[in-house]
Amino acid sequence: MKTLITYFSAERRTTAKIAKELASMIDADIFEIVPEEPYTAADMRWPNPLARCNREKIGNKDVPVAGKIENFDEYELVIVAFPIWYGAAPNVVNTFCKGYDWSGKKIAAFATSGGSGIGKTAEKLKPFVTGGEVLDAILVHSVTEVKDWLDKLIK
Ligand SMILES: Cc1cc2nc3c(=O)[nH]c(=O)nc-3n(C[C@H](O)[C@H](O)[C@H](O)COP(=O)(O)O)c2cc1C
Repeated sequence: MKTLITYFSAERRTTAKIAKELASMIDADIFEIVPEEPYTAADMRWPNPLARCNREKIGNKDVPVAGKIENFDEYELVIVAFPIWYGAAPNVVNTFCKGYDWSGKKIAAFATSGGSGIGKTAEKLKPFVTGGEVLDAILVHSVTEVKDWLDKLIK
């Protein structure tokens, strides 16, 4: 199954590390979801009510993404990876998803977090991947966990 791994990662590059390890393990293509305006440490300081992350979340704002995947049509399975922000995918991931036609594609999501569980992440992603089928979402701490989950999911 032709597979693309897309990921957003900001604070400590935790998600990036796992996404890259997975890509080389399963020989998948990879695309980093980078905001047009990258996040600074101050942007992510959520205890500050005026921080960018809070303004985007409260305002339900779109966060434009740099670059475009030209051959998106070719992929049958798209893995979407991100850190949990406020119990869900960060807004930039939702904006990314809205920018593509997901018809006929299978979608699997994995996330890292500071302690929260995966919650309703899969359900919350569905409105942004119109036409696609969200298979599952999992919270992970290592690439081994992702690989085991994926093997069961698409066997
Ligand atoms: C704005 C913001 C909101 C966050 N919200 C949550 C949350 O709701 N639950 C949680 O467990 N961790 C939360 N975190 C922590 C991240 O999910 C965690 O540090 C993640 O592993 C970071 O991955 P990264 O290094 O790939 O960016 C939040 C972090 C930020 C910056």
